Amino acid sequence: MGGIFGFVSKDKLPGKVLFEGLRRLIYRGYDGAGYAYLDDKGKLIVRKKAGHIERIWRDIGITEISSKVAVAHTRYASRGWPKDNNTHPLQDCKESLAIVVDGIIKDYEVIRDDLIREGHKFASTTDAEVLAHLLEPVSGKEKKIENIIGIGRTVDGVYAFAVLFQGDNRLYVLTHGQPLVIGIGQRGFFISSDIPSLHGFAAEAAVLGDNMAGVISQDEFKVYDILTGGEVKQLIRKRVKYPAGLWDKAGYPHYMLKEIYEIPHALRQTINGLMDKYLRLAAMIIQGAKNAYVIANGTSLHAGLVSLYYFADLAKIDLEVVSAAEFPYYGLEHVGTGTVIIAVSQSGETSDVIRSIKLAKQRGAVVVGVTNMVGSRLTLESNVYLPISAGPEIAVPATKTFTSTIATLLILAAYTGVHTGQIGQGDVRMIYGEMEELSRRLQHELSRIDRDAARIVDAHNNWDNIYVSSSGINYPVALEAALKLKEAAILHSEGIQLGELRHGPMVLVRPGFPVILIKPYEEQALELYDKVVREIKSKNANLLIVSMDDEGENIVRTVPTIKYLAPIANIIPLQLLAYRIGVKLGRPIDTPPGLAKAVTT
Ligand code: G6P
Repeated sequence: MGGIFGFVSKDKLPGKVLFEGLRRLIYRGYDGAGYAYLDDKGKLIVRKKAGHIERIWRDIGITEISSKVAVAHTRYASRGWPKDNNTHPLQDCKESLAIVVDGIIKDYEVIRDDLIREGHKFASTTDAEVLAHLLEPVSGKEKKIENIIGIGRTVDGVYAFAVLFQGDNRLYVLTHGQPLVIGIGQRGFFISSDIPSLHGFAAEAAVLGDNMAGVISQDEFKVYDILTGGEVKQLIRKRVKYPAGLWDKAGYPHYMLKEIYEIPHALRQTINGLMDKYLRLAAMIIQGAKNAYVIANGTSLHAGLVSLYYFADLAKIDLEVVSAAEFPYYGLEHVGTGTVIIAVSQSGETSDVIRSIKLAKQRGAVVVGVTNMVGSRLTLESNVYLPISAGPEIAVPATKTFTSTIATLLILAAYTGVHTGQIGQGDVRMIYGEMEELSRRLQHELSRIDRDAARIVDAHNNWDNIYVSSSGINYPVALEAALKLKEAAILHSEGIQLGELRHGPMVLVRPGFPVILIKPYEEQALELYDKVVREIKSKNANLLIVSMDDEGENIVRTVPTIKYLAPIANIIPLQLLAYRIGVKLGRPIDTPPGLAKAVTT
């Protein structure tokens, strides 16, 4: 994965535009950054360095330049170590072009060997460099776009790229399974891997679909279908509008903390962003389905697991929730006309999700997408999609997108319940009302919850191998909390069903062993909960509790709410706990080593 940003304009733009663009894309990779531009004489200049853009920007002088055409990249090292030579832009032997690539090239060793036999010399160990050498004969030629289309037809993989040639004031782009958008601004055209990063530079974005190639000049851009070679006249266009200051840490030491504090606001945005018309359509599709699956990965999968309870309770519909990575081997024989896939992905780009929905669509399934990224692959592949509207999330550990995804799935389940006749409009209004109330309460109590979490983290030192456990609708919250502890605090943790604790895992619980229990919402589970609490206490373990109604030394009290919203109220203290432990252990909270915000290849 990587982030691509660039521009072509009539007047020179300062390098700080590139810097700002890359800064907004660091969630796509932070192992190295670089840029290429044409100077006044049309000479191609390339600068790059391994490392996080915020650490290396001075070294590469990104804010010192100005140009009419430039392209930049922030790298996630998937093939080739995070070293200067593997950082993009990558170049051909003659250094006549600079290319930035997001994605992977399949069978690149074969292409590379062929190119080496032809005399090409490689400067990196990345897969993407083959593209630079394949394009070498094109540079200097007039009609480059035909050759670029040819690359899209012949080079297998999942990638998008942008290329700048010496002496040519145009940018060439191509999409082959990875996203790229063209921002239409007053000062010129911009390219980026996502729409939000265009904020302030472009008012509108044209979304390139799969298998498209484009040439962007100062006055216009033309896009072609790689498969037919014909010009694409109608691209999907989206407005680019986000509040100012969205990408600043706004005084917070980390994006993760800022994004947790944004949860109350994000919830209100989710409510406002969901349109009745699309909710009804999605609900109608789900209600009429023969069978329905929720597919997702990571945090989104945990949100999907919460939605099981929503659909079962509110619509009397049994969903199957499956990891998108497993789906191709799991349910495909039951997928056909009449199947609905609810595909959940905050980035909308996760390759397992995209692959699975493509397979399901080939068999006749209908796809309802749930995502934070309008214009993403998921929105292009879905029959109908619901935006969660949480706003850009930069930290790799997802926080506000988890709570907003849950809120979206709850509203969708409630709409479906109305369609199946299980609940009435009044119930839907009640859920909206409770959501607004929860957002208000959280707004008031978040800093108190944070202080409680920080106090507990300060008081204990044994943070490793943590069990997180609960029952019922809060069980997926335990799974999500364990994932947050892994991502933000980089320590081993495990989410376990409350009852299952007593079927083996308890053997590890000894004095000082950290166990976090989320007090279950369901009354039937409380007897078991009390029993487990007694057992853990008798072992002198380090027991922490997240509860809506209890207070005490080792208890973080969260805000009270209805059962359906309990997962939102409960995950917040756990996100804060993971964050505070990560800070205590000196972890790189926002950018855990080797993890990307979305696995797109
Ligand atoms: C990666 C990230 C996780 C994320 C998952 C799904 O594994 O490290 O934090 O939850 O992808 O991402 P998505 O964008 O599809 O929700």
